[in-house]
Amino acid sequence: MKRTRDSSLPTGFLWGASVAAHQVEGGNRNDWSEWEQAHAEDLAARATRHFAHLLPRWDTVKTEATSPANYISGKAVDHYHLYKEDLAMAKSLGMTSFRFSLEWSRIEPSPGEFDEAALAHYRDVIRTCRQLGIEPFVTLWHWTNPTWLRDQGGWETVKACDYFVRYVSKVVEYMGSDVSFWLTLNEPEVYADFSFRIGEWPPQKHNTALARTVMRNLARGHRRAYRLIKLTNGAARIGVSKHNISLAVDRNMINRLLKFSLDYFWNYYFLRLIRGYQDYIGLNYYMHSRTPFSIKAGHRAHYSDLGWELYPQGLMQVLKGLSGYRLPIYITENGLADATDTYRADYIRQVVHVLERAVEQGIDVRGYSHWSLLDNFEWDKGFWPKFGLIAVDRTTMKRTIRPSAHAYAEIIRHNGTVDRSDNAHDL
Ligand code: BGC
Repeated sequence: MKRTRDSSLPTGFLWGASVAAHQVEGGNRNDWSEWEQAHAEDLAARATRHFAHLLPRWDTVKTEATSPANYISGKAVDHYHLYKEDLAMAKSLGMTSFRFSLEWSRIEPSPGEFDEAALAHYRDVIRTCRQLGIEPFVTLWHWTNPTWLRDQGGWETVKACDYFVRYVSKVVEYMGSDVSFWLTLNEPEVYADFSFRIGEWPPQKHNTALARTVMRNLARGHRRAYRLIKLTNGAARIGVSKHNISLAVDRNMINRLLKFSLDYFWNYYFLRLIRGYQDYIGLNYYMHSRTPFSIKAGHRAHYSDLGWELYPQGLMQVLKGLSGYRLPIYITENGLADATDTYRADYIRQVVHVLERAVEQGIDVRGYSHWSLLDNFEWDKGFWPKFGLIAVDRTTMKRTIRPSAHAYAEIIRHNGTVDRSDNAHDL
């Protein structure tokens, strides 16, 4: 790709933000919404014990975090009805891409029965994007399942692949010609781990072997969906959103072994399962892990409201690791929970600075999509973590653009950061 004169990022670099259906739409009825109803009281009651000692700004979030209502997605931020307003705001910030997911349970509320109104809705979201000059990145599955699929064993059974392909085939028949970028799956390894190994998320299984089976079924579903979409539209570009972690390394043997196994099982296992079935890599980057022995964060380390270390520098390691696949890379998620908007602008600047250095070193990064456009429902944490470039008052549904979003708009205007010296924007 050709570069503009004053930025190392290529012309046509896509700048956007991401959302996922269940986290923003409201009114969803799926395996998650049922689980929320059953667990909200318990999650609220456990919040203080779980988080008070871990979270840097617990005092500012505890009222929300200890209320059962926080754990029920309910109307979410009503994006299902307000998407036009939300997309207009994205446009006003200069965004050129928007990643969102389709809610399978809306499109196929009972097995084999498709809801025309839901399909028409999503086609209109895509068309609205196009009218605004925004490239839609359409995710087909972002963790939630129709309850009928769950009742038949969900992704634990290989049958899920047949159901997935049937759903994808309907979607592609309906809106395939309007979509250039598909993401079949969001973070299969996070889903398998939290839902089937650690067992914190529905269906709360604690079985490592089962988590592996789920990953393999998801990979099979992806490969079949890939072939199917390609048959319908050979020019479509298809990937998955992959959550990769940067890992601190030192000479300690145990740390090196831990890094090896995290790389093997978390960062690259799924990518190996779908080798040859990706046109680009969708990368979600949030995490830096310091293995248990001896690797300390410097005294200047900062943390998000969720207690995650803010470590934009780690993105370079992740990008270098992925560059071996020789595929274009789009950042499909990156962001932080920051209710007071203290760190978001600097964090974005520093991440973009890393992208610039990566591109200068020959890594083919073509887009950045921030998580998230809007404050939203953060799964088992509910609404208290604020990831939005745009804040949402859930009583009035009023949207307010945060100052960091204006800083991001400035970056978009310049197609990159203005000061690209190595130590600029240290967090
Ligand atoms: C997920 C999002 C989530 C975000 C922040 C990603 O792993 O795809 O759904 O909200 O992280 O935790």
